[in-house]
Amino acid sequence: MNEYNIAVIPGDGIGVEVVESAIKILDATSKINNFKLNYKYYEWGSEYFIKNKMMMPENALNLLAESDSIFLGAIGHPDIQDHITLNGLLLPIRRKFDQYVCIRPSVLFPGVNSPLKNVEDGDIDIVVVRENTEGEYANVGGFQYQDSNDEIAIQSSIFTRKGTERIIRYAFELAMSRDKKLTSITKSNAQGYSMVLWDKVFKEVSKDFPEIETNSLLIDAACMDFIRKPKEFDVVVASNLFGDILTDIGAMITGGLGLASSGNISFNDDNPSMFEPTHGSAPDIAGKNLANPIAQILTGAMMLSHLGEDNAAYQIRESVIKTLKLGKNLTSDLGGNSKTDICTNDILNNL
Ligand code: NAI
Ligand code: MG
Repeated sequence: MNEYNIAVIPGDGIGVEVVESAIKILDATSKINNFKLNYKYYEWGSEYFIKNKMMMPENALNLLAESDSIFLGAIGHPDIQDHITLNGLLLPIRRKFDQYVCIRPSVLFPGVNSPLKNVEDGDIDIVVVRENTEGEYANVGGFQYQDSNDEIAIQSSIFTRKGTERIIRYAFELAMSRDKKLTSITKSNAQGYSMVLWDKVFKEVSKDFPEIETNSLLIDAACMDFIRKPKEFDVVVASNLFGDILTDIGAMITGGLGLASSGNISFNDDNPSMFEPTHGSAPDIAGKNLANPIAQILTGAMMLSHLGEDNAAYQIRESVIKTLKLGKNLTSDLGGNSKTDICTNDILNNL
């Protein structure tokens, strides 16, 4: 029997609730498909910070290194500045394990209403490939003359040829397995160094993939076109920040953040990849059994695919689609009036 060691970080807010839901589904599918998931829970995040003045312990990355995959809910607390939570936990994990590809699908599932007119299920099927270890999220910069009228903040982006090339190459390879269509997101008019390098590398790598139809769009135009003509996108490759922004739009046009799964993938066999939904800790609905568990559940399916359990992943996706199609046990973000646990049980029953 295949066994996998999963490091679970429920994190903050609704993260705790949706991880509990997703684990129920993962457990049920592992039984049906005859494999074993061994969980190790790590109660790191904002509560840990409040007690210990750090988001996770000093040996955290060593502990995580022992796992096959990391399954994370969300991190973020209204009383703690977001740059502390992000730089104290998520970004160090993504960098340490070189999880340079962030995969974010936006699929309009049957039974889900898009806020856009004239789109039906199946019409939107986009994968955004987001660069995940450098770019605008590089923690490089500083303050001077803090808290005075002369206050200065400097924030630097880092774009390396190596980092740019590997993410773009991955996106081309993914496009080969889909509709052979790839859009690169840029802003080389205003970001005259980093995005110029990005465009140059995109052009160079495209020569190795003559079968792929390519297009380059400015980030602002891409935001517009995700809304104006979402059917035309298939694979999209973007820098860290641009990918982050675009995937919230991708989520909204396909039913919202409650459905948006995400994976941070490492291609080094010694490193775990990390699976976490696109959404955050949603303090506005946390602790009320109101969160939509589906994003976390689909994220779990993505993790199983990555571990090689494609059958189980397929079953989870089909069970989610059945629940969405029937529409009886959906949470309020999807127009339903069911609670988190009811929606979870419905999916569980479909397995
Ligand atoms: P958010 O994604 O937590 O929430 C945005 C809106 O979407 C809220 O109205 C929320 O109720 C709703 N929403 C999100 N997920 C939902 C779900 N599963 N079911 C139903 N409704 C859902 O983003 P926000 O409010 O900007 O950030 C809240 C905190 O989360 C902040 O501290 C932020 O830094 C953190 N955050 C963490 C992320 C992560 O851990 N990867 C990603 C994004 C934000
Ligand atoms: Mg985001």
